[in-house]
Amino acid sequence: MADSGGGRGGCCCKLIFSLGLTSLFMWLSLRTSNPKCSVEKFYLPSLNETLNTPNDTTLNLTLKLSNPNKDKGIKYDAVNVTVFDSPNRSHVVGNVLVPAFYQGHKKNAKKDGTGTANTTVTLRAVSGNGTGVFRVDLSTSVKFKIMFWYTKRQRISVGADVTVNAGGVKVGKKGIKLKSLAPRMSCFCVVMGALVNLLVISLLNFCSFSVRNNNGIIEE
Ligand SMILES: *[C@@H]1O[C@H](CO)[C@@H](O)[C@H](O)[C@H]1NC(C)=O
Ligand SMILES: *[C@@H]1O[C@H](CO)[C@@H](O)[C@H](O)[C@H]1NC(C)=O
Ligand SMILES: *[C@@H]1O[C@H](CO)[C@@H](O)[C@H](O)[C@H]1NC(C)=O
Ligand SMILES: *[C@@H]1O[C@H](CO)[C@@H](O)[C@H](O)[C@H]1NC(C)=O
Ligand SMILES: *[C@@H]1O[C@H](CO)[C@@H](O)[C@H](O)[C@H]1NC(C)=O
Ligand SMILES: *[C@@H]1O[C@H](CO)[C@@H](O)[C@H](O)[C@H]1NC(C)=O
Ligand SMILES: *[C@@H]1O[C@H](CO)[C@@H](O)[C@H](O)[C@H]1NC(C)=O
Repeated sequence: MADSGGGRGGCCCKLIFSLGLTSLFMWLSLRTSNPKCSVEKFYLPSLNETLNTPNDTTLNLTLKLSNPNKDKGIKYDAVNVTVFDSPNRSHVVGNVLVPAFYQGHKKNAKKDGTGTANTTVTLRAVSGNGTGVFRVDLSTSVKFKIMFWYTKRQRISVGADVTVNAGGVKVGKKGIKLKSLAPRMSCFCVVMGALVNLLVISLLNFCSFSVRNNNGIIEE
């Protein structure tokens, strides 16, 4: 009698355990990482004193967008970049739109974008020595391609401060990483990871508990 009860318990435990393992692997393979975005180049010719073209409304920048996922493609909606005159986003300098595109797994893309700058705002943003700090915010939506299907659309909002020299060019050769404006998302991922770990650990505990309950009778 006790034997048959133990057998059912062991079977149930195995089922729960393999379900838990399956969902863990499902979660691992469906998990997606957001694209990494950076500003590689940034140029406002109106600030170049050598050129002496204060009315030039050109706003040129180069974005780098990378797909860090090993086996998932990313479909980007149009990428909307907004440039502000200061880190506190007082006034809009201009907008740059990069058309929608698809990016395969582990790929990098450099995208040149051009927009129209408000020269009044631009010229006011720089200090006496000609340098200035602009705010660059990027927003878009992405869908991840897993095998043959796409995930739901997900919003991406990132940004960073970009310092320009007296020539109106971004300081430094290295790209500037655009950081998430929504820190809640990464928090959510940490909580999800902890929950999954908790589930696995409690399943393991449950199994060792029911095996111990069988008084050393281990099936198969
Ligand atoms: C820029 O525009 C302002 C006002 O439209 C004008 O007064 C000025 O002469 C222009 N400057 C140059 C260098 O074209
Ligand atoms: C700005 O970008 C446009 C389009 O990519 C290009 O034709 C133009 O030469 C660039 N201007 C400057 C000043 O770099
Ligand atoms: C781009 O973003 C700015 C600021 O959020 C917004 O005002 C503008 O309408 C957006 N442009 C497009 C084409 O979505
Ligand atoms: C934003 O920063 C600029 C200087 O960077 C300052 O002059 C302005 O008052 C600030 N605006 C707000 C609303 O804090
Ligand atoms: C430039 O920005 C100023 C201040 O925000 C605004 O009054 C002006 O209308 C803008 N000019 C253009 C051409 O959008
Ligand atoms: C230019 O002026 C700003 C603010 O006044 C200062 O922070 C910066 O160090 C100066 N840069 C140079 C190259 O002098
Ligand atoms: C400003 O324009 C001049 C003339 O085109 C160019 O040689 C110089 O490199 C520019 N300055 C910067 C900092 O790009």
